[in-house]
Amino acid sequence: VEVVIVPDAKAGGELIAAAIGRLLRHKPDALLGVATGSSPLPIYEALTAQVRAGGTDASRARICQLDEYVGLPPGHPESYRSVVLREVVEPLGLTEASFMGPDGSAEDIEGACAAYDRALGEAGGVDLQLLGIGTDGHIGFNEPCSSLASRTRIKTLTEQTRVDNARFFDNDIDQVPHHVITQGIGTILEARHLVLLATGEGKAEAVAQTVEGPVAALVPASALQLHPHATVVVDEAAASKLK
Ligand code: F6R
Repeated sequence: VEVVIVPDAKAGGELIAAAIGRLLRHKPDALLGVATGSSPLPIYEALTAQVRAGGTDASRARICQLDEYVGLPPGHPESYRSVVLREVVEPLGLTEASFMGPDGSAEDIEGACAAYDRALGEAGGVDLQLLGIGTDGHIGFNEPCSSLASRTRIKTLTEQTRVDNARFFDNDIDQVPHHVITQGIGTILEARHLVLLATGEGKAEAVAQTVEGPVAALVPASALQLHPHATVVVDEAAASKLK
């Protein structure tokens, strides 16, 4: 795993947006896997600024989702589909046609998971997958003890993750769904380049275990050590527990 320490979240966002810009110059219709949550927001801001300034042409980029809540009504503002459309697809001037994600409101959730896994392969695979990391070391919503070979499937969120995410639901944990669809760790590892951004003291322990600990299902992000091209970008605070 390549570790890059940057002064702050903004610098991390700019560094990663520049890497996405280089990818798009070389492959204009690259499939970009995006994460939600707070960590990647500086990436989307920097990438949008790059596109608006004319430095990057993202008009043929394709965007795909990492995970999704199960059971929110379609169009719910906090469904990850809505979030990605609002924070990534629209600011980049793209349309829903360039976007793919799992259907969290499907009646047949298992079928929707398998269909999404298949669709990613048929789209040629993910060129660059952006990741955040949970305080418990999760990537996507692969919580501790997820199989390192897992495929896209339904998972139950831990209490900790529901507490962490209540801020998006009026700080009311009862509104946070219990279940999610997530790309599996095996699915995530198929992307050609993995780029994880972690910022803030709260991520320091998870980052240290991811990069310096053993590869273990207890720390799902440690699976990045199995990938030939994984980059972890951290600010000083998130790097503070690295040896
Ligand atoms: C979201 C996702 C999660 C988050 C993680 C960190 O699509 O996959 O793994 O990346 O929960 O969330 P933040 O960045 O909000 O701390």
